[in-house]
Amino acid sequence: MERIMAQKYHRLNIVLHWLIFILVVFTYYSGWNKALPLHRFLGALVLVFALIRLFTMHLWRRKFAPLPQKPWEKLVASLTKIALALLFIIVPLLGIVFRMYYGLDLVFFGYVVVPHDWVGYDPTLGNSLRLWHLRIAYFALFLLAIHAAIACYHQFVKKDKLLERML
Ligand code: HEM
Ligand code: HEM
Repeated sequence: MERIMAQKYHRLNIVLHWLIFILVVFTYYSGWNKALPLHRFLGALVLVFALIRLFTMHLWRRKFAPLPQKPWEKLVASLTKIALALLFIIVPLLGIVFRMYYGLDLVFFGYVVVPHDWVGYDPTLGNSLRLWHLRIAYFALFLLAIHAAIACYHQFVKKDKLLERML
């Protein structure tokens, strides 16, 4: 565990942050365009990297000098970061699981990675989980907009170099 006073996040966490961001952009894009095989592939990659990040962001946590922030600003920023880290695990998991209830496997390069028979056949539950996949994906998009707006506010209004921690 690395708890040094630092200027920047650990390099691996920076790479994972932006890699997940790029994958997420293309995952939404492919979902909206109904390019579903690509969407499932990218979404599953988001799941893999978001799970890795969950460990590495704690393993290589860094301590930064406190910024002049109101307590509520700090709270909103922290809750948004925690929610984003978790939601990009929950959304792809729901995507995989709702299809399993329809009797569909998760296939990667022709190999069945998650067979549908780990759960029963229940299209009604599948329908409901499908709706949750969509609802939570849109909620995550809303949080992402808040998170990016906070980053821009620091960069262009407060000019406190917060963004540089992640570059
Ligand atoms: C970061 C991960 C993911 C995000 C943000 C995401 C988001 C979305 C979005 C925005 C849509 C289109 C919704 C609409 O039509 O308005 C969608 C549809 C869909 N997603 Fe995902 N998704 C992710 C991962 C996955 C994964 C891993 C799977 C399955 C392996 C999956 C399966 C599907 C399917 C099958 C649809 C079409 C649903 C339908 O309209 O019947 N998604 N997703
Ligand atoms: C899928 C998209 C994104 C997700 C899931 C995400 C998630 C996160 C998470 C979990 C952290 C905390 C990292 C840690 O504690 O180790 C973080 C930090 C950060 N993110 Fe994002 N982020 C996304 C997109 C963006 C975008 C588009 C920007 C810029 C416009 C951005 C700017 C930042 C900055 C500046 C930090 C450091 C903030 C601080 O130290 O308080 N992120 N992000």
